[in-house]
Amino acid sequence: MRGANSIKDQSLIKRLLPCTLHILLPIPLLPIILLSLYFYPFSLPSSPPTKLSPPSSTSTPLLPSAEKGYVCDTPCDYSNGRWVRDKRDPLYNGTTCATIKESQNCIINGRQDSSYLYWRWKPNQCHLPRFEPNTFLQLIVNKHLAFVGDSLARNQIESLLCLLSTVSAPKRVHHKGSRRWYFASHNASVSLYWSPFLVQGVQRSNTGPLHNIVHLDRNEKWAKDVHEMDLIVLSVGNWFLVPSVFYEGGKVLGCLNCEGLGYTDIGFYGPLRKALRATLSSIIEKKGGKGNGVNVIVRTFSPSHFDGDWDKEGTCSKTRPYMKEMKVGEVDEEIRRIEMEEVENAKVKAKEFGGFSLEALDVTKLSWLRPDGHPGAYMNHFPFGPGHVQNDCVHWCLPGPIDSWNEILLEMMKSQECRLSLVNLSSSH
Ligand SMILES: *[C@@H]1O[C@H](CO)[C@@H](O)[C@H](O)[C@H]1NC(C)=O
Ligand SMILES: *[C@@H]1O[C@H](CO)[C@@H](O)[C@H](O)[C@H]1NC(C)=O
Ligand SMILES: *[C@@H]1O[C@H](CO)[C@@H](O)[C@H](O)[C@H]1NC(C)=O
Repeated sequence: MRGANSIKDQSLIKRLLPCTLHILLPIPLLPIILLSLYFYPFSLPSSPPTKLSPPSSTSTPLLPSAEKGYVCDTPCDYSNGRWVRDKRDPLYNGTTCATIKESQNCIINGRQDSSYLYWRWKPNQCHLPRFEPNTFLQLIVNKHLAFVGDSLARNQIESLLCLLSTVSAPKRVHHKGSRRWYFASHNASVSLYWSPFLVQGVQRSNTGPLHNIVHLDRNEKWAKDVHEMDLIVLSVGNWFLVPSVFYEGGKVLGCLNCEGLGYTDIGFYGPLRKALRATLSSIIEKKGGKGNGVNVIVRTFSPSHFDGDWDKEGTCSKTRPYMKEMKVGEVDEEIRRIEMEEVENAKVKAKEFGGFSLEALDVTKLSWLRPDGHPGAYMNHFPFGPGHVQNDCVHWCLPGPIDSWNEILLEMMKSQECRLSLVNLSSSH
């Protein structure tokens, strides 16, 4: 299992890096934008999204045992802000946490500069508290938290496991279909389902197929476990940038970068939107109205930072964050916009069912501002020996900026708990 997953992650890097490079360059991008403009006028990258409602939250640790009479804090927009200096050490490091994937264990791999570890995200409207492992664990007592998606889902869950391990050691448990950890102290399970498209698909590989095959309207295997998930964090995006053939109703809808196959190139914005919409609809239909409620969180697109060739020294080797005036790249912003819009669309559908909450964990901007947070060449152990350099400018070092994703996730969970408690209070009077 471990071996298979690391092969998948490696292959994502190898295939994605050259593709991502293309996507980041304006000229090769033009045909994609033009095509998606032609077929999907809805997804036109016009003005940056400003009207979408931000994930709301609270900064008061409210637990199920809290006395009545409390107030939920005013919602905060965590998406906009800046990185500020922080003197405190990260909660964990590559020697204290055993579950860090080798290729993201930057310090152990020889990364010398450490100033990238000493920043914290400061939202414009509020203070984002440092991660509180005990609070997080209390919020998942008797629950199952599932991360579903690509290797960035794995990156985030490994950050979370390291953060939580500082107070309670999880046990790796066997489960068919996921990687799963169990916190006996809290009877809580945390799992990772590999599903890079969320919907049914086959990743391209050297042995074939040469393009991803993606069925935009079919459930993946993980969906059969939805009934036993209490909180689902979805992570999707990067694999849609890889050459693909997209299917709908069992028929080819079109493709992305598939010269020679005779299909129409429809870009990836439309297919990504369809896959996310189908996934959210299917979760709502499965879980809605079941009484116990479920939270679904869509983690928005995580930008990569290739500022050179992926196999050359010095690519994504920055050592400081960008300051806030640096605008998010056009493609990253557009993918984020699609994800935010689909969350809003799904909220409308979810309203028909009670006890169902759906939010976006909007990390695009804060991540974009951290070109210094990727492994780069330190995806390999002491990388600058003989042979050529490889750079990972997609995933994030652990510890690193991705820890802040989990800080925001915790605030969202606290806020959700607070709202549920208030509903309970008002319904019992
Ligand atoms: C990791 O953290 C431990 C405990 O805080 C500390 O003793 C150790 O020096 C740290 N290691 C590194 C590589 O920073
Ligand atoms: C542990 O949590 C599961 C749900 O994840 C629940 O079904 C079970 O009853 C819990 N066990 C105890 C002892 O509370
Ligand atoms: C709300 O009430 C339900 C049923 O009475 C209970 O199971 C649930 O734990 C309560 N939630 C909170 C957050 O108090």
